[in-house]
Amino acid sequence: MTGITLQNISKRFKTETAVDDVSLAIQDGEFVVILGASGSGKSTILRIIAGLEVQTSGHVYIGDMLVDDYEPRDRNLAMVFQSYALYPHLSAYENIAFGLRVRRVPREDDPERLRRFSRDEIDTKVRSAGQMLGIGGMLEKRPAELSGGQRQRVALARAIVRDPEAFLLDEPLSNLDAKIRSNARIELKRLHARLRQTFVFVTHDQTEAMTLGDRLAILNHGRLLQCDSPDRVLSHPANQYVASFVGSPEMVFLEGNVEPAGTGYTFVKEPVRIPVRGVPRMGPVTVGVRPWDVRVERSSSPSAVPARVTGVERLGSSDQLFLELGAPSSPTVAPTLPPLPVRAVVRSYDFNVGDGVFVSFDADRALFFDAEGARLDSMSVATRLL
Ligand SMILES: Nc1ncnc2c1ncn2[C@@H]1O[C@H](COP(=O)(O)OP(=O)(O)OP(=O)(O)O)[C@@H](O)[C@H]1O
Ligand SMILES: [Mg+2]
Repeated sequence: MTGITLQNISKRFKTETAVDDVSLAIQDGEFVVILGASGSGKSTILRIIAGLEVQTSGHVYIGDMLVDDYEPRDRNLAMVFQSYALYPHLSAYENIAFGLRVRRVPREDDPERLRRFSRDEIDTKVRSAGQMLGIGGMLEKRPAELSGGQRQRVALARAIVRDPEAFLLDEPLSNLDAKIRSNARIELKRLHARLRQTFVFVTHDQTEAMTLGDRLAILNHGRLLQCDSPDRVLSHPANQYVASFVGSPEMVFLEGNVEPAGTGYTFVKEPVRIPVRGVPRMGPVTVGVRPWDVRVERSSSPSAVPARVTGVERLGSSDQLFLELGAPSSPTVAPTLPPLPVRAVVRSYDFNVGDGVFVSFDADRALFFDAEGARLDSMSVATRLL
C-alpha cells in the first residue's frame, strides 16, 4: 500500500502538449478517478505513472521513492488496460498465473538470492484471486469462451495476484454493456474496500467517475482543473468547464448581467432575475443552475417566469423537461421576447409537451462565472474589486 505523487508533470509529443504541469498527490489507499474528454491526457498520465511513457519534465514518486528512472517492472504497479490484453491461447488460470511464473522474489533464507514461486504458491494465489472475483468456476476457460465482464475480472485477478503497490486502470469497463458495467462498478468498489489499496482509474464517463472515486481529478487539454470529492466537484466546481462536465443532465447556463436592484443586486437575463448575494461583479456574468434546482410549477408565484414545455426526456425515476422561458402561457398571446431555452429535472410524468408552466431558480444554489469561465464567489469577487 502506498500513495503516488505527481510533481509538475508535463509531457510533450513533438509540438503537442499532452500533459501540462500536473501536480497531484494520491493518498495511500485512495480511489482517484482521472476524468476528462477524449484526448485530454488521461492515458498519458497513467502511462507516465506506470513508467511506460517518460515525462518531458516533472517527477513521479511512489510512496517516498522518486521513481523517474525506474523501469515499469521495478515500480510494482499493476495496470489494467481497456483491452485487458489477455493471451487468447491461454486459459483464464494461465493468464492470471503468467506474471507469477516469470517473477523472481528474494529467498527467505538468503535475501541476496532470488527464487521462483512454487507451483503451490501460484495455485493458492490464482485460486484465491479467482474466488474473490467470482470466477473460481471458470478458470479453465479461454478468453474467447468468457463474457466481457468475466474477461475483465480475469484481467483484474491477474493484477491482484501481483500484489502491487497500486492499481492503474485505464477505462477497464468501457467495452461492457450498460447493465454489466454498472455491476462491474459496484464490484470494483467492493474490491477496493477489501484490498484498501491505491487505485487510479481513468474514464471519460462522469457518472462512472462519480460512483467510483473518492476524488475526481478533472483534466482538460492536459491541464488539471480540479481534484476534489464528487460532492465538492458538483457543488463547488472550479470553473465553468468542470461545472458543465460533471453532473447529469448537464448544468443550465444563462449569460446575462448583474445590475443594482433596490438595496442589493440582481442577475438579469430577461425574463429571468436571480438575486445575487455577497459583493457582486457588475456587468456580464454567466449563471449556472443544476437542472434539478430549476423549479417547475403549474401556478404562478412572485419570482416565477411563465414558460412552455417543448420536450420531455424520460430519465427513469425522473424527467428532464426542455422549456422555453417567456413563452406566453396561452398560445394565442404573442411573445414579447425571443423565448429562452432552459432545462429542468422533475418527478416523472408530472408534465407533458405543450404544458404552460411557471419556472423559478433556486438562488441559493446558483453558481456565477466570469467571461473566462472562472467561478465567482463573493470572496473572489470582493478581491477583484479591491
Ligand atoms: N505516442 C504519442 N505520440 C504523439 N501524440 C500522442 C501520443 N500519445 C498520445 N498523444 C496525444 O496526446 C494527447 C493525449 O492523449 P491521451 O491518450 O493521453 O488522451 P486520453 O485522455 O487518454 O484520451 P482517450 O479518452 O481518447 O483515451 C492526444 O492529443 C494524443 O493525440
Ligand atoms: Mg486514453
